[in-house]
Amino acid sequence: MSLRPRPTVTILPDAPAVAREAAGQLRRRLAKAPADRPFTVVLSGGSTPRLLFRELAASLPDPARAWSRVHWFWGDERPVPPDHPDSNFHLAREEWLAKLAPPPDHVHRILAELGAEEAAALYEAELVSFFGLAPGEAPRFDFVFLGLGADGHTASLFPGSEALAETSRLVAAPWVEALGERRVTLTYPVLNAARAVLFLVTGRDKAATLARVLDGPYRPDLLPAQGVRPTDGGMLWLVDEDAAEP
Ligand code: 6PG
Repeated sequence: MSLRPRPTVTILPDAPAVAREAAGQLRRRLAKAPADRPFTVVLSGGSTPRLLFRELAASLPDPARAWSRVHWFWGDERPVPPDHPDSNFHLAREEWLAKLAPPPDHVHRILAELGAEEAAALYEAELVSFFGLAPGEAPRFDFVFLGLGADGHTASLFPGSEALAETSRLVAAPWVEALGERRVTLTYPVLNAARAVLFLVTGRDKAATLARVLDGPYRPDLLPAQGVRPTDGGMLWLVDEDAAEP
C-alpha cells in the first residue's frame, strides 16, 4: 500500500486536449504572476510538447499575455547541436520560439554541442547568475513542464542513473546506458524547488508506466518521475485517456 498522497491527475480525452489545457495552465499562471520580476519556464523535450508549442503559437499575437516577461529554459538536452532534429531546443524554436521571437537573452539554451559535462557546468553557472543563487541554493522556477518516458524517466533522469542521487548540483551530465549517450539534465533539487510542475503524458504506450508511477510502490530509482515531488510547489499530471487506461 502506498502511503504517499496520490498526485493530482487530470484526464483529458486526447493529446490535443492535453496540449490545450497545458497551454491554458501556463497562460493563467503567467497572468497571475507578479509583474515585478521575470517569469521563468522550463520546457520539456521529446515529442509530446510539440502540440503544446503549436497551441501556444496559435494564440499569437496574444497581447493579453506578458510573454515579454518570460524567460525560457530547458529541463534537459540531448548531445546534439541546436539545429539537429533530436534537439529539444530545436523543437521548441521550430514550433514556438521562432514565432514568439523573445529577446535572445530570454532564451537560456543548454549548449549541448560543447559536450555534456561542459554544457552542464555552463548551464549551472547561468542558473546561479540569473537567479542570483547563494551556494547550495536551488532556483525556484515558476513553471516546469515534464514528460514521462516509458521506462519511467523524466527530463534526463533515467532509471539507475547516478544523477538521481545528486543533492547539490543543479545540472548533471549523466551517462545514459540505455541510449549509449551522455545527457544534460536538471536535477531533483531544481525540479523539486519549482513553484509549479506540470507533467504531460499521452498515449497508450505510457499507460502501464503511468499507473506504476502514480499508484505503485515508491521506487524513484526505478521510476525517476516519482522523485519529482515539489517541496512547496504545486504539481499536476495532465494525461489523456489512452495513457490513463493501464
Ligand atoms: C527528452 C525529454 C524526456 C521526455 C520523455 C517523454 O529529452 O526526451 O526531456 O524526458 O519528456 O522521454 O518523451 P515523449 O514526449 O517523446 O514521449
